[in-house]
Parts: sequence; structure tokens; C-alpha cells
Amino acid sequence: MGSHPKPQILFSREEIEAAVTTLATKINNDYRGKNPILIGVLKGAFVFMADLIRHLDFSPEVEFVRASSYGRGTESLGKVKIVHGLRSPIEGRDVLVIDDIVDTGRTQAYLLDYLRKKRPASLKLCSLTDKPSRRKVPITIDYLGLTVPNKFIVGYGIDWDEKFRNLPDICFVETED
Ligand code: PRP
Repeated sequence: MGSHPKPQILFSREEIEAAVTTLATKINNDYRGKNPILIGVLKGAFVFMADLIRHLDFSPEVEFVRASSYGRGTESLGKVKIVHGLRSPIEGRDVLVIDDIVDTGRTQAYLLDYLRKKRPASLKLCSLTDKPSRRKVPITIDYLGLTVPNKFIVGYGIDWDEKFRNLPDICFVETED
């Protein structure tokens, strides 16, 4: 494996913290008196979800799914499959999906369809970041933190080739494409 270029900071940890706090405030207001299930989309969402739930003033149930949409490197293959499905029923439940980034939208389109078939009472999407310049499938992001430019994003859970998930800031790396 070759060397990776040095990531440059796009959003600092302080800017991320502010975005997470703002999102949590909205979610606290909207889900007051409800008992939602938060479903994190592995792997990338694990850092964001860990921070987000610690800002919630209710105690959410937490589940995880894992969808696979990328090969190695930076290009989406355009195919999605569920590689770790839900282990708990969500019929009649308020469901909030938590993801780290919406890029082409294919993962979320597929995943939301998968979850909708399980007949939740409500189904919403919270994504820390959005890269609208790459969208191939229309997606409504009910709770959005930060919009990112058309650069390769890493850090705060997001990888490049399984690297850089541990960076505390949201960064970009210069790539050929
Ligand atoms: C990333 C991210 C989203 C998806 C977005 O996950 O977490 O789920 O890609 O891309 P899309 O909008 O083009 O579908 P990835 O498949 O890279 O897996 P990972 O979270 O395990 O790194």
C-alpha cells in the first residue's frame, strides 16, 4: 500500500462540537416525549453517534446496521448491500438513522428503503456531513450538520482506505480524481 497525503483540516474539532450540539438540540426538541431508536450506519458513524448521544436529554435505544457501498480507494462502486442488518424490530417505532456523510446518496436510499419496509412509525435521517456535489440519488437529510465541498473527506470516523478514522477534525486529502 502506498503512502497517503497529509490530511488538511476542513472543520476543526470545535466546529464539529458546535454542529453536534446544534443537532442534538433540534433532536431533543423534536423527540421530546417519544422513545426513538437511533440506528447508526457502520462503520463511519460510530464517532459522531458516540458524541451525539451524549448530548441528548433522553436515553435512546441504539442499534447499528452496516451497509457496504465502496470498494477500496475513493470511487463508489454504485452498489449497496446490507452486510449487518437490524437485530431488533422497529415496527411502530420512531427511527432516526445516524450517518457520517451522504455522498452519492445510494447508501441512504437503499438503507432507508430497507428500514421503511419494516414499518416504523417515523423514519428520519441525521447526517453529520453532506457532499451535495456528488449526489446521484435524491435524499432528504432531516438533520444536517455540515456541508462539505467535493473533496475526499476523512477523520471523525470517516476513512480513506480504512485509515484516518481517528482524526479528531474533519479533514480532506488531495486526490487525483
Ligand atoms: C460511507 C458513509 C455513508 C456512505 C455514503 O460509508 O458512512 O454511509 O459511505 O456514501 P454514498 O452516499 O455515496 O452512498 P462507507 O460505505 O464508506 O463505509 P464505512 O462507513 O464503513 O467507511
